[in-house]
Amino acid sequence: MRHLKETDIEVYNAIRSELERQTTQLEMIASENFASEAVMEAEGSVFMNKYAEGYPNKRYYGGCEYMDTVEQLAIDRLNILFGSEYANVQPHSGSQANMAVYFSVLQPGDTILSMNLAHGGHLSHGARVNFSGRFYNIVHYGVNRDTETIDFDEVRRLALEHRPRMIVVGASAYPRTIDFVSFRMIADEVNAYMTTDIAHIAGLVASGIHPSPVPFADFVTSTTHKTMRGPRGGFILSRQKYAKLIDSQVFPGIQGGPLMHVIAAKAVAFKEAMSDEFKFYQQRIVANARVLAQTLQNAGFRLVSGGTDNHLMLVDLSAKGLTGAEAEGMLERAGITVNKNAIPFDTQPPRVTSGIRIGTPALTTRGLGEAEMREVGGYIVEVLDSKGDEAVVRRVRHNVKGLCERFPLYADYAALFASLE
Ligand SMILES: Cc1ncc(COP(=O)(O)O)c(C=O)c1O
Repeated sequence: MRHLKETDIEVYNAIRSELERQTTQLEMIASENFASEAVMEAEGSVFMNKYAEGYPNKRYYGGCEYMDTVEQLAIDRLNILFGSEYANVQPHSGSQANMAVYFSVLQPGDTILSMNLAHGGHLSHGARVNFSGRFYNIVHYGVNRDTETIDFDEVRRLALEHRPRMIVVGASAYPRTIDFVSFRMIADEVNAYMTTDIAHIAGLVASGIHPSPVPFADFVTSTTHKTMRGPRGGFILSRQKYAKLIDSQVFPGIQGGPLMHVIAAKAVAFKEAMSDEFKFYQQRIVANARVLAQTLQNAGFRLVSGGTDNHLMLVDLSAKGLTGAEAEGMLERAGITVNKNAIPFDTQPPRVTSGIRIGTPALTTRGLGEAEMREVGGYIVEVLDSKGDEAVVRRVRHNVKGLCERFPLYADYAALFASLE
C-alpha cells in the first residue's frame, strides 16, 4: 500500500474509503461476500503479469510452470468439491461461463428455455439486452402465481411446445430449493441439453446443503464470488466427454489470456471451501436467513413464496406502501445495503420494483449469528415502517455502526492503511 499511496493518492484514497464503507455498513446484497485476505493476497500477486493462453501443460507462451501449478490446483480442488469429472476455471465471469456453454453446443437462433428475469432469472439466461437474448430464441418459464415457486407444469408444457435445444436452470433471486431432477426429466423428454447455473448457491451445493445438479446436468456454470466467497470470476463443470468442446469455447472461443492471478485466488478459495469450517459457514448462512425471514414476517412483511430455503429472501413491499427503490434508498442511509428487486408479477417497472432482495452470506462471513439477525431484522423493520423517518434512520445508522464494530472485518488489511496514516 505504501507504493500505491506514493504513486496514486486518488486511487489509494478511493480504496481506503471503500474499505471504510464495507466495514462500517451491513452488506446484505445476496450476491456479495467478503473474500478472505488469503484470497486477496493471491489475486494481488505477480501472477497478474503473465500471459498463459492455453491450458496446463498446453500453453502458447513460455514461462508457464507456476501457472500450470495453480490452474491444475484450482481444477483438481473444484472437481473434488463438486464430484465433477471436468472443470474449466478460466471464465472471467459467470456470464462468460454461460456464453462458453451456449456457444459449445448451440447455433445462433436455437431455442433456449430459461427462467424469466422478472421471476428471478439472470440477464445471461436470455434477456433481450444481453448477448443471450440477441443470439438465441428465448422462451421463459416462471413461477406459479399462487405458490411463487417454479411451475413445473408450465416448464413441461413450454418444453413440449417449443422443443428447446437447451433448458437453463438457475436464478439470481429465487429463495427456494431447486428441483434438478424434475428439470432433467423434462429435458430428457424433449432431448434438450440441461445447463444449471449455480452462481448464487454454489457454496451451498459444495457443502451439501443444497442438492447438487452435477449428476443431472450436462453443464454446470457458476460464479466464484457469491456464496463461494472467492475472487470475482466463473467456472464450468461437466462430464469428460464435453471437455475439449468447452475448453476450446472458453479459449480461443470467447477469451484470450486467462486471468492467472484470479485463477490463483480461485484455487485458494476452493481450498477454503473444502474445509469443515466452510461447511459450517454455509449452514450458518441458511440458519441466519431463516431467522431474518421469520423476524421480517413476524413484523408483517410478506416474503415471496412465504420464506426461504437458502441464503436469500425477497420482500414484497407493496402492502407497506413502499417501492423497492424507496426501501433501498432509506436502508442505505441507515447503513444497510440491499438491492431493489422485481417480485414475480411485479406491476412496477424494473427501475422501481415492488421488492427488495436480502441475503445473509456477507454478514455471516463477518461472524453475525442468529441473535444479530433478529437485531438487524429489527433495524430493517424500524426503517421501513417509519418510511425512512430521519430520526429513525439516524438512530439505526448509529446502532449499525456499533454492530459493525463488534464484528470487525479485514483487520490486517485495515492495519496496513492505519500504519500509513
Ligand atoms: C444466476 C447468475 N448467473 C450468472 C451471473 C453472472 O455473473 P457475472 O456478474 O460474474 O457475469 C449472476 C450474477 O449475478 C447470477 O446471479
